[in-house]
Amino acid sequence: MNIGIDKIGFYTPDQYVDMEKLAEKRGVEPAKYTIGIGQERMAVAPLHEDAVSMAANAALSILDEEDRKKIDLVLFGTESGVDHSKSGAVWVHHLTDIQENAGSFELKQACYGATAGIKMAMGHIALNPESKALILGADIAKYGLNTSGEPTQGAGAVAMVLSSDPRILALDNDSASLTKDISDFWRPLYSDYAFVDGKYSNEAYLSFLKDVWGKYKEKTARDLKDFEAVCFHLPYTKMAKKALLSLTENAPEEDAERLMGHYQNSIAYNKQVGNVYTGSLYLSMLSLLEQSEELAEGSRIGLFSYGSGAVGEFFSGVVQPGYKKFLNKEAHESLLDSRQELSIDEYEELLEKSLPKDGSDSETDTDKMKKGKAYLTGIKDNLRKYEVK
Ligand code: CAA
Repeated sequence: MNIGIDKIGFYTPDQYVDMEKLAEKRGVEPAKYTIGIGQERMAVAPLHEDAVSMAANAALSILDEEDRKKIDLVLFGTESGVDHSKSGAVWVHHLTDIQENAGSFELKQACYGATAGIKMAMGHIALNPESKALILGADIAKYGLNTSGEPTQGAGAVAMVLSSDPRILALDNDSASLTKDISDFWRPLYSDYAFVDGKYSNEAYLSFLKDVWGKYKEKTARDLKDFEAVCFHLPYTKMAKKALLSLTENAPEEDAERLMGHYQNSIAYNKQVGNVYTGSLYLSMLSLLEQSEELAEGSRIGLFSYGSGAVGEFFSGVVQPGYKKFLNKEAHESLLDSRQELSIDEYEELLEKSLPKDGSDSETDTDKMKKGKAYLTGIKDNLRKYEVK
């Protein structure tokens, strides 16, 4: 029985910053951000959008009545969760009107959370072939103004329905993983901003890739020739180029050319959004599937997931015949193209704003909500309040 991704949707807030203008304000050559880092626009979340509302919006864009009846597992990968106790999955389960007899919980390991969800869901569906699972990856990436991580911020969510006989990507059951206790990137409970050892995090990412790719090859006897394309966790799009160059260092030219040939399509959406942490790998995969010409039946795609701290995993899947029919290319392009540009002053003011942390009530400015259906209306009696329009 094949198990894999049957539907995939994504959501990002309605506002962005132009990276060339940000570079000018920071006194940096614009090409450093647009070429050196590889980002053109950066999504910024207003106060009425958080990881929960963005995940709900991504899910609402794909779920139908049959999904709502059949989903019995809701798994939410995030590193910008909004409560130490209640999981974002419970809110999303409610906001998307999924039938009650489902299990729902949150998974955390930096940007690896959604991949952990996929692995659990595969096991669940193998035991219960009639079930479907909803996997969410949603985050707001924040390093703060004037930090070296600033051009690698972003905000957004990816939602996927996993099922047997999937219509988009059948996942292989042969991943290779690695865990090491390192301090390349982290966010203490008291901080809105992530801490990072930038150069070390790049090195750790590439060394994890090397390790898990080597283990994957040993386990499966596959090599680069068996892959049409490889997608990577994308903290910023240049990282995929570094990763591809490392993977193909000693590869036959034909393999290196084929894999590099898919690079632009696999970064097209991420370049417009920035880092969405847990959802980034899946946003890249979605970008590849929607922006490429139809990939040949049976094409295998490699996937590298990396969550700082750190856990890495290499796994793979095979695109399904006619998969293009089950994607939403036009809707996703329109979501990206119709956003409002923030001036750098507006962005700086917004990035430093946060909801009160002293227990006081607060209401968000929901009149500004233009795109999504679900949004955060505020905090009352220490509880976050959400609504669906
Ligand atoms: N034209 C073209 N390119 C230019 C340029 C110009 N005028 N000026 C500089 N560049 C290039 C540099 O050569 C460099 O390229 P390479 O990496 O290929 O050498 C690139 O622009 C970046 O320049 P610097 O290394 O000088 O940039 P920096 O010191 O400001 O930091 C960063 C870059 C480390 C990525 C930083 O933005 C950061 O810390 N980001 C957050 C951490 C991160 O994203 N880590 C990634 C791995 S960890 C992970 O993946 C988990 C996660 O999601 C966080």
